[in-house]
Amino acid sequence: MATNRRQFLNRVLTAGVTVLAGYVVYPVIRFLIPPSVSSDEPTKVFVTTTDEMKPNSAKFFRFLDRPAVLVRLPNGDYKALSAKCTHLGCTVEFKPAKDFFYCNCHGSEFDINGKVLKGPAALPLPVYVVSLSGNKIFVSIQNRIA
Ligand code: FES
Repeated sequence: MATNRRQFLNRVLTAGVTVLAGYVVYPVIRFLIPPSVSSDEPTKVFVTTTDEMKPNSAKFFRFLDRPAVLVRLPNGDYKALSAKCTHLGCTVEFKPAKDFFYCNCHGSEFDINGKVLKGPAALPLPVYVVSLSGNKIFVSIQNRIA
């Protein structure tokens, strides 16, 4: 009877340690081996339609496993950028009144082209390619082959 209880507790403990190890090991592996992006084909996602994007508005979406933002400028042009702050990775917000992005975490500011206006971020927000097909808006990244 005592052996059965001991075996049961050992199995529960082993299962718990295995699950805990999975929680630790999986993120480390994901960090060390990021998802690959083909160098031949650009990655392209449908974001929204032109009907849903009023001038001077923004739509946040997921792209390449990170936050991204599509902006329609007052003149009707579209811009798409990564919304992941290059300082420590917080998601920036769009300030339509001044056409810039603001990071609430530490106060970095980026212009509509992703250029750093105010630190502590030192690197610009990556810019993506916007394309239209009818009224559908797509965002893609064009891989550069060096
Ligand atoms: S994470 Fe954006 S300013 Fe620090």
